[in-house]
Amino acid sequence: MAPVFVRGLCKSFKNVVALQDVSLAVSERQFVTIVGPSGCGKSTLLRLICGLIPPTSGEVRVRGVPVTAPITDVGMVFQSPVLMPWRTTLDNILFVAEMRGESGNKYRTRARELIELAGLSGFEARRPHELSGGMQQRVAICRALLLNPPLILMDEPFGALDVITRERMGFELEKIWNVTKTTVIFVTHSISESVLLSDRIIVMSARPGRIVRTFDVALPRPRGRELLSHPDFVRLSAEVRSCIEDASLAQA
Ligand SMILES: Nc1ncnc2c1ncn2[C@@H]1O[C@H](COP(=O)(O)OP(=O)(O)O)[C@@H](O)[C@H]1O
Ligand SMILES: [Mg+2]
Repeated sequence: MAPVFVRGLCKSFKNVVALQDVSLAVSERQFVTIVGPSGCGKSTLLRLICGLIPPTSGEVRVRGVPVTAPITDVGMVFQSPVLMPWRTTLDNILFVAEMRGESGNKYRTRARELIELAGLSGFEARRPHELSGGMQQRVAICRALLLNPPLILMDEPFGALDVITRERMGFELEKIWNVTKTTVIFVTHSISESVLLSDRIIVMSARPGRIVRTFDVALPRPRGRELLSHPDFVRLSAEVRSCIEDASLAQA
């Protein structure tokens, strides 16, 4: 059963059609990236998938269950890490357990494993203001992974970082994902990020957002820095780029 199944999804806000007839299925343990120009409805699509907003028409199912209200069994990572300033790294990660009414203690070992995986060892007791932007975002990723949710939604998680940090975070996330293999839907407007991370790339057109094409990414994992000069990486990045350009031109 597909963890995420979307059929004929439309969403309008008053007189703005944000999404038009979007259908997609994400398989178990697949890393799917959605790319498209700003304002094409990527965030709207994620919000519809986790039930934060209702569709105008069409359906969303997560693990076979129709989504009609916000789902809780999902990890979320946004552009801003939204950490609690007075909490340490460890306690920020454990927060999701407490939110569920569970004791954070039960998840300490898991949290420490994630901290190590994310390269945050030694920073367990630091507060967010003592961490760089990239480290804060890694804390947010650990927090999303803590309870092992079957699905993680990431909305431009590296969008606020500088270019160098952003690239490094892409490699870090790929490394983490190779261990956790959680089903992920990742939104970005970075083409190289999408090719680096994904099993599949979904390209959306400018408003109203529609799916114009999907690309399978068969590049071997783990994907290191050498991938950036791999001919298949370069070719696929160029194909995705021209697809996005065509989709934008078609709108103009
Ligand atoms: N709550 C809302 N009310 C009105 N319009 C909205 C709302 N949310 C999004 N939109 C509009 O829907 C379109 C898609 O927005 P969004 O999903 O945020 O795009 P993206 O994430 O791809 O940049 C935009 O035109 C945006 O202005
Ligand atoms: Mg957005």
